[in-house]
Amino acid sequence: MEKRKVRVYIAASLDGYIAHSDGNIDWLDSVARDDEDYGYAAFIETIDTVIMGRKTYEKVLSFGGEFPHAGRDCYVLSRTERIADGQVHFYSGSPEKLLDQIRRKPGKDIFIDGGSEAIDLFRKKGMIDSYTVSIIPILLGEGIPLFKENEKELSLKLVEATTFDSGLVQLTYEPIQK
Ligand SMILES: NC(=O)c1ccc[n+]([C@@H]2O[C@H](COP(=O)([O-])OP(=O)(O)OC[C@H]3O[C@@H](n4cnc5c(N)ncnc54)[C@H](OP(=O)(O)O)[C@@H]3O)[C@@H](O)[C@H]2O)c1
Repeated sequence: MEKRKVRVYIAASLDGYIAHSDGNIDWLDSVARDDEDYGYAAFIETIDTVIMGRKTYEKVLSFGGEFPHAGRDCYVLSRTERIADGQVHFYSGSPEKLLDQIRRKPGKDIFIDGGSEAIDLFRKKGMIDSYTVSIIPILLGEGIPLFKENEKELSLKLVEATTFDSGLVQLTYEPIQK
């Protein structure tokens, strides 16, 4: 049975931010096109479990409408204990235990939706199998960095690069095992 991979799929400005400091992500609208989803539908088809930080969860809820991950197991990282809400579980333990628990069942890949704190938690432990970053043609100047400072460097190999008419460039990297 294939190992269920842990995948990051996220948009960032050319200067490496995923949101303005106040959480604003309206700049993502600059690449929104009715006829282009930048591979999201194909990607999400490979996913049945989503992990996100509490701030990202709140941002998603703030959009209203149907929860985009209805039907998927969803784990929201938070140091505050909260009661599960349907398939949304709040989690405050270690990333190792969470992945062990998820991988006890066979299934599809695992999506780390963000934000930067959630990615950092798994990156620090070398648990991310692939990074797909959609670079938006904008310099935000300030904001929440995609990657936090980290004591370890991580070499990557490029596995896919796609350019789009909107100017978005999508890069997928996998860590080089040493
Ligand atoms: N550009 C994109 O594609 C994209 C994608 C995703 C998110 N975003 C943006 O990113 C921003 C949020 O990113 P962020 O880095 O500030 O926050 P985040 O990672 O979404 O959430 C941070 C929260 O996660 C919890 N957390 C962090 N480490 C934890 C640990 N070790 N154990 C348990 N809980 C832990 C804490 O929740 P508590 O405070 O409840 O303890 C913390 O406040 C939002 O503006 C969102 O819109 C952008």
